[in-house]
Amino acid sequence: MADFAPKSIVVTGGCGFIGSNFVRHVVREYPEVRVTVLDKLTYAGNPENIAGLPSDRVELVVGDICDAELLERIVPDHDAIVHFAAESHNDNSIADPEPFLRTNVEGTYHLLEACRKHDIRFHHVSTDEVYGDLALDDPTRFTEETPYKPSSPYSSTKAASDMLVRAWVRTYGVRATISNCSNNYGPYQHVEKFIPRQITNILCGIRPKLYGDGLNVRDWIHTEDHSSAVWTILAKGRIGETYLIGADGERNNITVLQDILRAMGEPEDAFDWVKDRPGHDRRYAIDSSKLRRELGWRPRYTDFSEGIEKTVQWYRDNEGWWRPAKEATEAKYAKQGQ
Ligand code: NAD
Ligand code: DAU
Repeated sequence: MADFAPKSIVVTGGCGFIGSNFVRHVVREYPEVRVTVLDKLTYAGNPENIAGLPSDRVELVVGDICDAELLERIVPDHDAIVHFAAESHNDNSIADPEPFLRTNVEGTYHLLEACRKHDIRFHHVSTDEVYGDLALDDPTRFTEETPYKPSSPYSSTKAASDMLVRAWVRTYGVRATISNCSNNYGPYQHVEKFIPRQITNILCGIRPKLYGDGLNVRDWIHTEDHSSAVWTILAKGRIGETYLIGADGERNNITVLQDILRAMGEPEDAFDWVKDRPGHDRRYAIDSSKLRRELGWRPRYTDFSEGIEKTVQWYRDNEGWWRPAKEATEAKYAKQGQ
């Protein structure tokens, strides 16, 4: 079957970390595609993330995915929606779950309804966290068959949104796919997240902060590889299918922090232990063989140390981008004892 070749797409959350990297990827790789970014510009959305892209290719609409009237105006003019918009940070979801229910669940519902009404292709960007966690010594990894067992308010709302997508495919025939990806890193990631928080702490003369015993494992992937995987699934994925995205990047938090400290010329023990996250997932690990086997996707940015060095350099070069959010983010963490 020929690949699906959209000419115009809506990218929700296109001013966030992964969404904006995806928009840049599409503009660079697919010159025939026009992108409408739909973003509410929450604390996590920044129009600078897509600044400098050609205005005849990329249009920003500031608005809420829960606004059905707005969707009615925007969606019909497009071939597909790629849905990144979400409340995405676990610690925030523990402090206040309500916005997660609204954006992640209700927002996905409204987008699905718009796709159903106008027969628009939908790709739903989800997370490996829907599968809960694995023990450090568990020999298995998550696959598309792993039962859902989310732990946090964030991951439970992402799991709920995945279930809505599956139901809309089966009941209404919406042309949708789902991807569940592991932890991303790279440029434009908000300073609340682990890697940018530690890099910018060091740049500010604050000691990095490690939760719990630091042995929690995340399966790191460069955001550029996430973008290429999402496009591959949009173009070649089978409707109704779920694909796991990962780049075999399992590392515990201490190791990642030591990579950052080394890349920044700091001693390997120059960090503080802080209070653990409640319900903290122990380990995530992705088996992405379905995506590789069926759709021929491969990650390209697999040298993690090099990726960290480049990411450190990006934060060094772009202080004007992260500085405005830093103080408020650290004040929030300080209140939580983290
Ligand atoms: P982010 O928090 O950096 O960006 C989220 C974006 O969504 C922001 O631009 C924000 O303004 C926008 N947004 C929030 N609520 C909105 C609403 N109601 N209407 C319109 N826009 C709204 O998030 P991210 O880390 O880039 O994650 C993007 C997606 O990828 C999320 O769906 C997340 O669950 C998923 N994901 C993230 C990771 C990761 O490591 N960060 C891994 C796997 C999957
Ligand atoms: O697995 C995919 C998920 O990865 C995405 O769905 C989420 O949107 C994304 O935020 C991320 O979730 P995590 O909770 O794994 O990422 P975070 O950057 O918050 O934390 C990574 C690990 O580092 C986690 O074990 C907690 C720990 N941590 C985090 C912070 C902010 C610390 O030790 N210190 C910190 O200061």
